[in-house]
Amino acid sequence: MATKKSGSTASYRPATSLVLAGRTPFEHEGFVNTPLYRGSTVLSETYDDLVHHRGRYAYGRRGSPTLEALSTSLASFEKSAGVLLTPSGLSAVGTALLAVVKAGDNILVADTVYQPTRKICDGVLKRMGVETTYFDPLIGANIKSLLKSNTSVVFLEAPGSQTFEMPDVPAIAKVAREHGAVSLLDNTWATPLFFRPHEHGVDISIQAGTKYLGGHSDINLGTISVSDATLYKRVLITHGDLGINPGPEDVYLALRGMRTMSIRLDRHMESGLRIARWLQAQPEVLRVMHPALESDPGYAIWKRDFSGACGLFSFILKPEYAKNIAAFFDTLALFGMGYSWGGYESLAIPFDCKGYRTATKWNPGGPAVRLHIGLEDPEDLMDDLAAGLAKLA
Ligand SMILES: Cc1ncc(COP(=O)(O)O)c(C=O)c1O
Repeated sequence: MATKKSGSTASYRPATSLVLAGRTPFEHEGFVNTPLYRGSTVLSETYDDLVHHRGRYAYGRRGSPTLEALSTSLASFEKSAGVLLTPSGLSAVGTALLAVVKAGDNILVADTVYQPTRKICDGVLKRMGVETTYFDPLIGANIKSLLKSNTSVVFLEAPGSQTFEMPDVPAIAKVAREHGAVSLLDNTWATPLFFRPHEHGVDISIQAGTKYLGGHSDINLGTISVSDATLYKRVLITHGDLGINPGPEDVYLALRGMRTMSIRLDRHMESGLRIARWLQAQPEVLRVMHPALESDPGYAIWKRDFSGACGLFSFILKPEYAKNIAAFFDTLALFGMGYSWGGYESLAIPFDCKGYRTATKWNPGGPAVRLHIGLEDPEDLMDDLAAGLAKLA
C-alpha cells in the first residue's frame, strides 16, 4: 500500500517505502499485514478460466499474494524490472548464475566471494562446461584484461563478506556491460538500503534475505533483483523451470523483517563502527577490516558509493596470541559462535581463507576473527570482547 488509497511507493524515502510496500489492507478485511497464504493447488471457478489461465495465480509454486507482496515490494525498492524469491541466499546465487551461463562460457568471479558461491562455480558450473576465472576484487577497470570472447558473466561481492576488500563496482560493471557480459553482485552486506546496485550499473542484485531482511536468525531466503525486463524474463524462466520456491512462512517473516530493517541497520552500523574503532585501540589487535573506517583501504570507494554499513566486519589479532585463541572465543558470553550474521544477536567466528583463494594471497599476519555486531548495548559487547581479549595473554 502506498497510502490509504494505495498506489506507488516510489516517491517516498527508503524507510517509509519499507513500511508501506506490499500492503493492501483493504483487500484483506482491513488487516494491516498481507496474510500468510499457504497452498499448492489454486482452483479456477469455471472451465473457461482454467483453460485460459485467467486467474491471478495458477499454482502455489508460481506465486501467491504473500510471495507477491515481498517480491513487488523489493522490486520497487530496488527500482528493478522484477525480483525473484528463492529458499536461501545460496539458491539465489545458483539460480541467477544458471540463468545467464551456457556450456562453453567463461565467467569472472571475485576471489573474495562467499565460499559456497565458489563451490557452485567449481562444481555444478564446471560440470556444465563453464570455466571460472577468479580475480582480485581490487582490479577495477583493469578487469578488461581478463575478458575473453566467451566471457558472459562478472560476479562480485561488495565488500567480500569475510575479508572486506571493497571493489569498484561501477567501474567493473561498466566494463562488463561494454563487453556484453552480465554483472551480478551479492549485496547481502550493504542491502539495497545502503548500496543501490542497479544505479551503479549492476544487472543482477542478489541478497541472502536470511540475514538483514529476516533480521531474526529464523529464516533462510534469497532475493534476485534484475535490472531490465528482457534479462528478468531469462531469470524467471530458469527459476520456474527449476521449481525454485521459498516456503510462505519464511516469506511472511521476511516481510515482517522488512518493516524494521531501516532502524535495525542504523543501529547495526552505529554499534559496529563504535566497536571497530574501539578494537583498533586494543593492544592485542593488529588491524581491523571495515570499509567504513577512515583508515581502511576501501574507505574512499565506500564513501563514494555507499550510504551506510552493516554490523559485519573482521579483525586480525597479533600473531603471538594465536595459541590462546580458543580461550578468547570460549570466554565470550554475549557473542554466539555460529556461521551466519544479520540477526539481532552478536556473533563471532574464526576464519582462514588461505585454502581456497586462488587469485589473491590471504596472509593476514595473525589469527582472523569475524564479528557480527547485533542490537545489544555496545558497552556490554565491548565489555564481553575485553574479557575475551584479556584471556589471550
Ligand atoms: C555473503 C553471503 N551470501 C550468501 C549467503 C547464503 O545465504 P543462505 O545461508 O541463506 O544460503 C551467505 C550466508 O552466509 C552470505 O554470507
